[in-house]
Amino acid sequence: MFWKLQEDALTEADLNALVDFIRSKERLTQGPRIREFEQAYAKWMGCKYCVMVNSGSSANLLLVGAVKELKTWQDGDEVIVPAVTWPTTITPVMQCGLKPVYVDVNLTDLSFDYDQLAKKITPRTRGIFVAHLLGFPADMDRLRTLAEKHDLALLEDCCESQGAKWKGEKVGNLGLAGTFSLYWGHHMTAIEGGLITTNSQELYHLLLLKRSHGLARELPPELHAGIAAQYPDIDFKFLFLTDGTNFRSTELNAILGMCQLARLDEFIRQRNHNFRRYVTLCRRYPDDLIALDGAEVSSFSFAFLFHDHALKEAFQKTLAKAGIESRPIIGGNLMRQPFLRKHYRPAEFPNADLLHENAFYIGNNQFVTDERMDVLDRLMQKFFARETITK
Ligand SMILES: Cc1ncc(COP(=O)(O)O)c(C=O)c1O
Repeated sequence: MFWKLQEDALTEADLNALVDFIRSKERLTQGPRIREFEQAYAKWMGCKYCVMVNSGSSANLLLVGAVKELKTWQDGDEVIVPAVTWPTTITPVMQCGLKPVYVDVNLTDLSFDYDQLAKKITPRTRGIFVAHLLGFPADMDRLRTLAEKHDLALLEDCCESQGAKWKGEKVGNLGLAGTFSLYWGHHMTAIEGGLITTNSQELYHLLLLKRSHGLARELPPELHAGIAAQYPDIDFKFLFLTDGTNFRSTELNAILGMCQLARLDEFIRQRNHNFRRYVTLCRRYPDDLIALDGAEVSSFSFAFLFHDHALKEAFQKTLAKAGIESRPIIGGNLMRQPFLRKHYRPAEFPNADLLHENAFYIGNNQFVTDERMDVLDRLMQKFFARETITK
């Protein structure tokens, strides 16, 4: 395969750091390395607190559960989610006993159809879970205005948009909390992993507890004595302050996280260098393509949105023949997936349907060079001149 969706982003140096740590025989489960990585990530983000977990999906589930408890949301309260995203932006809302309210996407920043979102707010709406998709920041001015007007919690799924900014501020810092994925193929990887960022100390404490069985000893040490004094009949080491589970990661993942974080800005720079060229290429064919752009993007991949389904299929085939791997836009219109189909009313989701039927993406990462971009350029020139179309 000439151009894969994902490449092996771990270097010899990353692997050596891991092997050296394993040989040191230090404790491998969550410990000081996780703490060090969380602090470094919070510094990179420019926020107060960061909590590492074992995946982006766990980050979303832990966050929704903690916010529900913090805000005393009731079962059946509503949270607004997009129709196009990874399923685990939506499933945590269901798993926490809340009601997802599905909103169509827009074809500019791939986030919500903001007008439809405004219409779907009801007296039971408690939160908006925005997903910044494929590296494009959502319009946080519009979302913050709505959230403030209706007193809603604004949660940001940044799993595909690490480093994207809205008016100079990194996404993940613009609502109550943000979540990130360190899965293989994302901007940086720890093989598996997730992060939650927030500036709320109350939420941070609840995340620490719920990440690790609800145990009081997970809280910052300066709080221990005061809490222990409130429960003299319980051994503080086994004091459970709330319901929790085990979302912990390991020191091994944190070691990789530290290695990759040191190079994250360089990875993003290369992705965005490629992205500028991709935008230029797409803009050449306005009759066939809907071009996406954005000044503060942190490019995740190159999406091709076609006006015509048959042409999309033909271009995808042309790329496959040239050894360029492609895939649907995330999970397509999730309303059409078996787990959500009963909520699908086609008239409400025209843009999600367009992404489902007329779009796909190819990989972009630090391994995509100018030479590869030249190949894409030539392929596109030939294809859109209708020289290579085999429908
Ligand atoms: C938007 C979005 N949210 C959540 C996730 C889940 O992250 P993970 O794969 O680390 O569980 C992903 C995964 O790619 C994603 O794209």
